[in-house]
Amino acid sequence: MKIRLAKDEDYVAIARLFRQTIRNVNSKDYTEEQIRAWLSRINTNRFRNSADKCKRWVAVEDDKVVGFCDHGLNGEFWGLYIHKDYIGKGVGSRLIKTAEDSLKKLGFKECSLKATITAKEFYKKQGYKVVKKGLHNVNDKKLEIFVMTKILS
Ligand SMILES: CC(C)(COP(=O)(O)OP(=O)(O)OC[C@H]1O[C@@H](n2cnc3c(N)ncnc32)[C@H](O)[C@@H]1OP(=O)(O)O)[C@@H](O)C(=O)NCCC(=O)NCCS
Repeated sequence: MKIRLAKDEDYVAIARLFRQTIRNVNSKDYTEEQIRAWLSRINTNRFRNSADKCKRWVAVEDDKVVGFCDHGLNGEFWGLYIHKDYIGKGVGSRLIKTAEDSLKKLGFKECSLKATITAKEFYKKQGYKVVKKGLHNVNDKKLEIFVMTKILS
């Protein structure tokens, strides 16, 4: 498995993976209505249009995108999604390490993120601490999330 910066031609695969993971993995922690609202705002252009506001990486295995992550240029971690068939194989750990290293290089001392219910325990294992519970607005639905932070050393 290789990790590299995302390219324009990856965005179709990234958007597809994002939708599949939400449908197959996050769906155990959110209601059908929440999942539908979440899915409705995912499209290739959303990724393309935010490309110059973030740093984004893909994990690739046999030319297939099996995960992606990104962080904003303001130091906030945006997202980390692994293909449903590659969960639990260490891809998420490698991607988050890549993003943290990038944030450190940019001079950030702390990383904050909004964790899904699904990913909270994973982030805890990576050294993040829950600061508070929150709600993330997605269209007209509110999704339960956890604001988590980690000091980057
Ligand atoms: C959360 C997610 C990114 C983790 O990626 P992953 O590649 O499956 O995680 P890894 O294989 O690198 O796991 C690293 C460690 O965390 C643990 N872990 C991973 N997910 C976990 C979970 N949901 N609950 C408890 N532990 C978890 C693993 O067991 C592993 O432990 P170990 O180091 O003791 O072996 C992935 O499951 C995912 O895409 N989830 C759905 C999308 C999502 O909610 N993303 C977060 C958006 S904020």
